Amino acid sequence: MCGIIGISSNKSVSANIINSLKKLEYRGYDSAGIATLSDGEIIEVKSEGRVDNLENNFDLKNLKGNIGIGHVRWATHGIPNQINAHPHSSHNVSVVHNGIIENSTILKKHLINNGHKFKSQTDTEVIVHLITENLKTLELEYAITKTLKQLHGSFALGIVFKDIPDLIVGARRGSPLAVGYGPNENYLGSDSYALKAMTNKITYLEDGEFCFVKKDQVLFFNEAGKKVNKKILKLSSDEASYDKGDFKHFMAKEIEEQPTTIKTGIKEYIDSVNKDVNIFNFPWNIDEIKSITLIGCGTAYHSCLMAKYWFEELTNLDVSVDIASEFRYRKNRFKKDTLYIFVSQSGETADTYAALNLCNKNKMKTCSVVNVIESSISRESNFVLPIHCGPEIGVASTKAFLGQILVLYILSLKIGFLRNEIDRVEYKQKIKDLKTLPGLIEKTLQHDNDIQAISSTFNDAKGSMFLGRGFSYPIALEGALKLKELSYVHAEGYPAGEMKHGPLALIEEGMPVVVLAPRDNYYKKTISNMQEVIARGAKVLLITSKSKDEVVSENIWETIEVENTNEDLFPFLLTIPLQKLAYYSALKKGYDIDKPRNLAKSVTVE
Ligand code: G6P
Repeated sequence: MCGIIGISSNKSVSANIINSLKKLEYRGYDSAGIATLSDGEIIEVKSEGRVDNLENNFDLKNLKGNIGIGHVRWATHGIPNQINAHPHSSHNVSVVHNGIIENSTILKKHLINNGHKFKSQTDTEVIVHLITENLKTLELEYAITKTLKQLHGSFALGIVFKDIPDLIVGARRGSPLAVGYGPNENYLGSDSYALKAMTNKITYLEDGEFCFVKKDQVLFFNEAGKKVNKKILKLSSDEASYDKGDFKHFMAKEIEEQPTTIKTGIKEYIDSVNKDVNIFNFPWNIDEIKSITLIGCGTAYHSCLMAKYWFEELTNLDVSVDIASEFRYRKNRFKKDTLYIFVSQSGETADTYAALNLCNKNKMKTCSVVNVIESSISRESNFVLPIHCGPEIGVASTKAFLGQILVLYILSLKIGFLRNEIDRVEYKQKIKDLKTLPGLIEKTLQHDNDIQAISSTFNDAKGSMFLGRGFSYPIALEGALKLKELSYVHAEGYPAGEMKHGPLALIEEGMPVVVLAPRDNYYKKTISNMQEVIARGAKVLLITSKSKDEVVSENIWETIEVENTNEDLFPFLLTIPLQKLAYYSALKKGYDIDKPRNLAKSVTVE
């Protein structure tokens, strides 16, 4: 969470800082700010709200300085307002921060007793005053090492100093940070995305490291303050994916890109000639694995739940699923014969990353399913399966979800086959069926006007429910999450068979309920549950699959039919109308679809 940019150059940096901040807004958009150094002074400008506000409120084009830091905030300590916006500065130091300082209250008391005056409610301001205090008696390197030791919690920092004209100090613990290299200038950024317009040469800091970034030199140090050498990575250029094109929103574009997401995934992982899965070289013996634990947050957690159904169907493994923020603090019984799979679009989510670290510390077998291959989770897993869906900018995840469940499905097929737990003919047939998936998704995307029309009903209601059984249950959860995230309407996903144990009491006349009932093994049972909610006044939107047999039920409000296919593939198709439903209901309300309130794309705080 929160985005950081720093540039040390031989020319004015404000324009590039603003451009980078706009790119970083997916990490937070409560407030934005910049500090530059000019004529031996720190110039600080900041505003509540988006980077656009900052541009409207200040004459940023004339903001002087060949060195500067910028920040977009996702509030943790202190409400989102101008005072709490970063950078935070003392008379000689200015800091931008991503993360949480857990001992800030104690440190603040101590600093106040030493005469420091605080302006904001943030934990970050503590860092400013600690550095200022330590610089009174120590050389820069020692003052930084000492300050970092005094901080508990997580951080990525960018720091500039009034009296050191061309230096930005960067530091990382828990939150990601990268350095970029350009002509006569160097950069600091929360991720490579912010730096891509300026450079494709990147170095990632590891936990505990800090760096000195000058326009013509970058030095790296370990936790103890000893210099370390680090590799420069060359990033591929995929600038085009960062453009909305003709679409109104990134989310609309990303929904429509899903046939390509699936095509790319299939191209990467399926050998169509031999009808086999191209996943080899597992770093462990697959036969020795007895159980799988899947871990993620948000939409990625729903991908994990989805995968549980497939792994159970296609292998004999015991499968459990965990929310990363729960897993990391529970008393876990780590077992050598468990494979831990971490699912994350960004590969930087703090809780998922911490859960991975915990498994690594306990020497477990770890595998990650990520979109950003340069990410921390990817770099620190034993085995990585990228989803290859290109940058996802909309805060609400769409194409990454489909990319994740595709890779997890393919992985379950391969593991089942390698362990002789799925029949060879069935394996080959399922791989053959996969090839039809992009076309089926394209057809499902054509449901558009009908979903637009339906969406108002969800906006007008007090709340709504999304029901499914079996393979459709995780999709019901994901559909409800999408509606919550985007249109701020209460929506709950539930296993259809569980309604009678409580939630049925919520159903009242006219309440919209989405029922996911493709023609699979669960179909009849789900239709019975649907009748139970209709009988209590619910307005049911049934999403089923095409069939020659009519649905035997009266009083269904609306029906959407997806294509008929092998039942493993229904979850992919059912997801599409739910994404569109959330999109159109938010569009009608005029909400900010790509940046819903209170949320962020990359959640690097716990
Ligand atoms: C945030 C995003 C969600 C995402 C979750 C996990 O909350 O808004 O869309 O599902 O983080 O992110 P990850 O990058 O780990 O998949």
